[in-house]
Amino acid sequence: MKRTNVKGWKVLTVVGARPQFVKAGIVSQHLRSSDDFTEIIVHTGQHFDSNMSEVFFDDLNIPKPTYNLGISSLSHGAMTGRMLEELEKIIMAEAPDIVMVYGDTNSTLAGALAAKKLHRRVAHVEAGLRSFDLMMPEEINRILTDRISDLLFCPTAIAIKNLENEGFERFPCLKIETGDVMFDAVLKFKDKINSANVRERIQLPSKFALCTIHRAENTINADKLATIFRALDKINQHIRVILPIHPRTLKLIKAYRIKTAVTLMAPVGYLEMLYMIDKCQLVLTDSGGLQKEAFFFEKCCLTLRDTTEWKELVENGVNLLVGSDQEKIVEGFHLFMSRTPDFSKPLYGDGNAGAKIVKGMREFLSHQSSKS
Ligand code: UD1
Repeated sequence: MKRTNVKGWKVLTVVGARPQFVKAGIVSQHLRSSDDFTEIIVHTGQHFDSNMSEVFFDDLNIPKPTYNLGISSLSHGAMTGRMLEELEKIIMAEAPDIVMVYGDTNSTLAGALAAKKLHRRVAHVEAGLRSFDLMMPEEINRILTDRISDLLFCPTAIAIKNLENEGFERFPCLKIETGDVMFDAVLKFKDKINSANVRERIQLPSKFALCTIHRAENTINADKLATIFRALDKINQHIRVILPIHPRTLKLIKAYRIKTAVTLMAPVGYLEMLYMIDKCQLVLTDSGGLQKEAFFFEKCCLTLRDTTEWKELVENGVNLLVGSDQEKIVEGFHLFMSRTPDFSKPLYGDGNAGAKIVKGMREFLSHQSSKS
């Protein structure tokens, strides 16, 4: 492995799963337009189907990764461990000034841990989020990543508060509230979603509810998943439910022999997803990112979880936590179909999160080098 020659600060970005491509895409564009940064992208391979990975690099115009580790479809320990081993080699060879990680996946934790053990600086985008549910692998990844990061880019005031409550004031790290990069992404790509290209790729009825399900807590338990589908079938009698299905969910509904009248379709790219959110009547999801994207398009969201790290959505009445409870899901559907909540509050910043993140990194790195 050879060190890549660069100008300015060397940033090593670690991504691996679908939502991270969206977030890194925004920051990467700001890094590329700055003279003082060079970015090296490492794809862990966690998401590997072309409609879970490549399409996002194309839609968001992200440069091809310098490294692709091809690590996927393993248990949590095996996946994180193998990533750690491979990332360590790359970080040693490349000696970046800073390693950037995004969100809460196993790729996030592996990137942060590999970097920190090699005494490299770590920046975490989407820091400070908490669902307070340690049964979620993502919550464990978030807490550990935050604790070893030097730069914590927090999307919301609640995220900053969560870190303060955990005593982060005492730790040698810098917290910066930036707003949410996913909001930047929606503002940037909103105009493109109605292009003939996107419309042709996707045929939609005039009215529909958009649904996604992929979380371990909903999919590994056959009864839970069957109950969610029973609720979706009930809703489907009122309005068509369309579900671009994650490969793990598809595998499991086949394995559990769940029968459903819901319209299943292959996973869609970023622009197609935004197009579907824009056109739908309502969103039902267990995804974190989609809860916010629903808000950006002024759509109500039923969250198929008992907790959310995006509490401000619930507090503002645009998101309801319905878990996997059939009655709550159906009741939530009728409630949201009969009222129009207020979406006017800017909950996720001013659309300049990417610029603020790069500015924060520049100031932090300049300050660090003036100390040494
Ligand atoms: C991961 C993240 C989750 C994030 C989600 C976004 C962790 C712990 N979870 O969950 O936080 O919300 O990504 O989608 O990191 N698979 C394919 N093709 C693919 C991708 C996955 O077939 O392109 C299959 C894998 O083989 C595996 C299953 O889907 O069997 C789950 O994939 P995995 O990467 O383990 O986690 P996600 O559920 O996608």
